[in-house]
Amino acid sequence: MKIRDRSFNDIISELKNIGRMAKRYLGAIIIFTVLSLLSTVFGILTSLVSQSLIDFVTNSAQNDAILKFDNIYAIAGAVVAFTVFRIVFGAFNNRISEKIRIKVNTEMTAEIFDEFICSEWEYSSAFSSGDILNRFNADVSSVAGSVLGIFPSFVSKAFQFAAAFAVILYYDATMALIALISIPLSLVCSRFLMKKMHTYARELRKVGSKLMTFNSDALLNMQYLKSFGLVSVFCSKLRKIQREYIKLNLDYNKFSIIVTSVMSFLTQMLTYVCFGWGVYRLWTGAISIGTLVLFIQLYSMLSSSFSSLIGIVPTVINAVAASERLTEIRTLPKDDTLDAPDVIDFFERAKNKAIEVELGGVTFKYKDENECALENISFSGKTGDFIALTGPSGEGKTTILRLLLSLIRPCSGDTSVKCAELGERIALSPSTRRFFSYVPQKNTMFSDTLAENMRLVKPDASDDEIKDALKTACAYDFIMKEKDNIYCRVGDGGTGFSEGQMQRLSIARALLRDAPIVLFDEATSALDIETEKKVLSNLADWGKNKICIFTTHRASVFDVCNKAYSVTDSSCALTMSKDG
Ligand SMILES: Nc1ncnc2c1ncn2[C@@H]1O[C@H](COP(=O)(O)OP(=O)(O)OP(=O)(O)O)[C@@H](O)[C@H]1O
Ligand SMILES: [Mg+2]
Repeated sequence: MKIRDRSFNDIISELKNIGRMAKRYLGAIIIFTVLSLLSTVFGILTSLVSQSLIDFVTNSAQNDAILKFDNIYAIAGAVVAFTVFRIVFGAFNNRISEKIRIKVNTEMTAEIFDEFICSEWEYSSAFSSGDILNRFNADVSSVAGSVLGIFPSFVSKAFQFAAAFAVILYYDATMALIALISIPLSLVCSRFLMKKMHTYARELRKVGSKLMTFNSDALLNMQYLKSFGLVSVFCSKLRKIQREYIKLNLDYNKFSIIVTSVMSFLTQMLTYVCFGWGVYRLWTGAISIGTLVLFIQLYSMLSSSFSSLIGIVPTVINAVAASERLTEIRTLPKDDTLDAPDVIDFFERAKNKAIEVELGGVTFKYKDENECALENISFSGKTGDFIALTGPSGEGKTTILRLLLSLIRPCSGDTSVKCAELGERIALSPSTRRFFSYVPQKNTMFSDTLAENMRLVKPDASDDEIKDALKTACAYDFIMKEKDNIYCRVGDGGTGFSEGQMQRLSIARALLRDAPIVLFDEATSALDIETEKKVLSNLADWGKNKICIFTTHRASVFDVCNKAYSVTDSSCALTMSKDG
């Protein structure tokens, strides 16, 4: 049988990944498996007691019974005891499995979150937020469920099958052989089904992510949708994606129904053959009525355990499709360490000393682009410099800031921060981010109180320090008008404040960090001329011992700068230097 193709190998290698993850929860999986096995044992014991009960009531001989009882009270006692045990075990099983499931689920979500957040910015930023949320939720749940589900289910169902089979074999070898026919039949079917299910599972997840991305985009841009009268367009767009989702789900469902119907038909045929054989044996006096009832019970246990074993296949395939998507996150290139000891040491020793930051002959290309965003550019700034990066939109100003922050790596050229007094120079890396503070071009306030937003960059900042930063950024007055002043709530995405107010809050937060190099990416673009002048003049006083780098299209920023670079055509040329 030719099944060793790429898709099958993918499934196997992803299953190994799930297996590696499952190893960490081996203890829990063993407990879970033992509990499942015990409930199977109680199930079989209950069937054996029923056999004795029927034979006792019908006065049939009990010569061949595995469990023999002298009186009806003992049988009734055993029935009650086994039933109680089964219920208690069921409850215990439920409780333990839920505890373990929550633990595995949350741990795995945290782990995937860490992996994602520690990956290189250029790779992580390529994912849409909806897709990532879908992976964090649906895919993690599916894999976590499978870690606990697959192995214990497999062992307990295989045990159930073997135990029921052994009891049938003990009584009647022919019937056991008939039951065995179902195995090769189902194996052939499930191998054929795996690939098709895998394709469906992958496609379903893709459409799930598409839906989530659509929803998060629509929610984030509500104001825009309403203003442009796009509400009905978006409502029908949602329905279009939903139709795609429904069609795929129903196709999958049709495929499953056909498969299960064929399997049920075959199993049912086998059940009738077994039943006919049992009736024949009863008629010839070879077995008792109790044994026939036992056969029927055991055969249904046999076929249900077998169906469950086959039913594990879709669970496995779903988990594999989900795990593939988590593996994509796990294998994203990671940022280097943020805490390289040599950088921390250099940073501490360079405190309050003049430093210089430099890009020398740097070329950079975004990974999916054909052309370089920057080619052989050089740039430098030293303590006390106020530098303007100007140039047309889309020419690479923000990209230069990303290079300084080591959010992206240059394809060639040198990046460094040096201290002449110490006679030391260190290459820029994620660890050198501690030298920088940053006001991004887009609003990056989190949904929390303003004070918590500020303390993100300086956890021990006092209320007064926060207020001082707000004053420098000209944000103090409007914050003091808020009901809880610095403890007022900032809404999701910064709602509750104007764009210009948000920019001033972002500037205040950057100042609070008190880093030696501060990057302002179009940080005052939404301010009126007067407020911008005031903010810039405050910054000029505040930043005498800093390196302040502004990307800007506004002439007002030039007034506070002693150096300017023009960024055009992938190059970066010094156009003004008041130091000569
Ligand atoms: N994440 C990204 N992936 C691929 N290409 C990108 C990415 N970010 C920016 N670019 C491309 O790099 C070029 C420079 O972009 P950048 O954001 O640095 O421009 P900018 O000078 O800051 O523009 P603006 O003044 O509009 O802010 C543009 O052509 C842009 O399309
Ligand atoms: Mg920009």
